[in-house]
Amino acid sequence: MKLLVTGGAGFIGSAVVRRAVRDGHQVVNLDALTYAACLDNVAEVADEPNYTFIEADIRDRAALNRALAEYAPDVIMHLAAESHVDRSIDGPGAFIETNVTGTYTLLEAARAYWEGQGRSDNFRFHHISTDEVYGSLGSTGQFTEETPYDPRSPYSASKAASDHLVRAWCATYGLPVVLTNCSNNYGPYHFPEKLIPVTILNALEGKPLPIYGDGSNVRDWLYVEDHAEALLLVVQKGQIGRSYNIGGENECTNLQLVQMLCGILDRLRPRATPYGDLITFVADRPGHDARYAIDPTRIRQELGWRPSVSVEEGLERTVQWYLDNESWWRALQNRDGVGKRLGMKA
Ligand SMILES: NC(=O)c1ccc[n+]([C@@H]2O[C@H](COP(=O)([O-])OP(=O)(O)OC[C@H]3O[C@@H](n4cnc5c(N)ncnc54)[C@H](O)[C@@H]3O)[C@@H](O)[C@H]2O)c1
Repeated sequence: MKLLVTGGAGFIGSAVVRRAVRDGHQVVNLDALTYAACLDNVAEVADEPNYTFIEADIRDRAALNRALAEYAPDVIMHLAAESHVDRSIDGPGAFIETNVTGTYTLLEAARAYWEGQGRSDNFRFHHISTDEVYGSLGSTGQFTEETPYDPRSPYSASKAASDHLVRAWCATYGLPVVLTNCSNNYGPYHFPEKLIPVTILNALEGKPLPIYGDGSNVRDWLYVEDHAEALLLVVQKGQIGRSYNIGGENECTNLQLVQMLCGILDRLRPRATPYGDLITFVADRPGHDARYAIDPTRIRQELGWRPSVSVEEGLERTVQWYLDNESWWRALQNRDGVGKRLGMKA
């Protein structure tokens, strides 16, 4: 299969690229290389003959037209996005531009390309989205694909808008789309502004481990390589027009998560006092969603997928990866905003 992957120099996109190249697919990685990108994430496949990189912005219609004409992909997997909720609170404009206008521009380029190719039934536009579009849960219940959208941050609102555009392009123009809405990912190459890498890297430097609010917010954590596998399955086997929720079946509070990381670090890189002593409660994020939980029944029953890595195992692998790859994260610590508390504007 020939894949055009947008956002393939980011965290999840690079996992998709590495996996797809190793599986023998032809992969074109199109990425604008924003602050969140790192080409080292795909270094292990960069010299493979079935891998190509194009530096381009998804808002640049001419660049998209050129890429589609030159590489003639069978499918587009769309992961390019502004992805950090805290940054969306400080600067929502970039989120509207990339996540909404960018997705619109890509949809129009994809539609023109697909129509030009005779509206092939085999073409797929796979839109990768988040469970955050569903809003916040109480202590019970799970998000299904029928849960009404109720986004509560500029990030999740921009992703919800893009999901609606994708469905509209399917209903109105017949563009063969599939969508996925996934829970929180973690694993190697996670950009050092998100909770898990921040916790590991602060711990290694003996700095406070910040927990927003009282740490009771619940997330469902999925190991990124499991997500990449699920995405490659959906793009090949998913039903046109259908959404699939993807989750890790690993719910825990932010406090439990950080405590687990501290326990792993105590074993792998012991220090005089337990890492847990560094835990520090800080002011909450405005509008912080209380709980996300995914009902993965559809993807399990229709496509036979379920996560393979438990949160305990995945966190251990992740901590070990950060211990082994200091040069990767050191280079990113100078990027704009990294290491600062963001998202306190409200
Ligand atoms: N991280 C998660 O836990 C999670 C969970 C569910 C869904 N998602 C979704 O998965 C996708 C990937 O998330 P991620 O965590 O890998 O994000 P990321 O921020 O790590 O990577 C995003 C990539 O998109 C690129 N990009 C940004 N704007 C662009 C533009 N205008 N044109 C071209 N490229 C652009 C960046 O350079 C970067 O390489 C996003 O759509 C996100 O909404 C993420």
